[in-house]
Amino acid sequence: MSELTLPDLLVAFATFRQRLQPEWFAHVHSHGHATARLARSLTAACVKTASSATLDEIEFSAYMHDIGKYLVPKGVLLKPGPLNEEEREIILLHPVHGMEILRDLPYVTPVISETVLYHHERWDGQGYPEGLAGTAIPFAARTVAVVDIYTSLRAGRSYKTPLTRNSACEALREMAGHELDPGLVNDFIKRVEGRLTLKIAKPPDPDESAYSSLIRETLRVVM
Ligand SMILES: [Fe+2]
Ligand SMILES: [Fe+2]
Repeated sequence: MSELTLPDLLVAFATFRQRLQPEWFAHVHSHGHATARLARSLTAACVKTASSATLDEIEFSAYMHDIGKYLVPKGVLLKPGPLNEEEREIILLHPVHGMEILRDLPYVTPVISETVLYHHERWDGQGYPEGLAGTAIPFAARTVAVVDIYTSLRAGRSYKTPLTRNSACEALREMAGHELDPGLVNDFIKRVEGRLTLKIAKPPDPDESAYSSLIRETLRVVM
């Protein structure tokens, strides 16, 4: 695994999955791509609180955050109904799988592996895999958590109907302070409601972003 470069890994996974399991491919890659764009814009908008995680690292980890789902059987991942206990246990492992897939690869920084590992932690400590709470959850992981939930609600998942923008924002408001960082939810909703998110989604210097280039190149090859 460590002899592969990250582009090799992405292309190998994506090509295989696109050919053999297109629904699976669409689930992870489309969702990752949408999440990456919004995570970058949210972070750029509140960069004063962005700590040391760079925009590139956040964008890239948002893109890769569900890569551990490559190890989740398609029947579980795309099940058209509520999961049973055993299936839920399988899904809960995807952040750890994702971190294990990525951590030894070139390009992958500690911020990236941590974000993938902790993107399902909750502000109230009831998340997984470690039950971290509040600001003990790395900033990048808190950011990706907000955007991940928003893109999932907007797209609809499995048996759930896609929500409108307003309904998705309302759902985020209800999660603020429980599941999600309330400050980040506030910042995100302000931008979504002001329709600023998409306008600033483009990185200020896309040609100089190694991770943006890597994502673009991967999508060019596999889409
Ligand atoms: Fe996830
Ligand atoms: Fe996700």
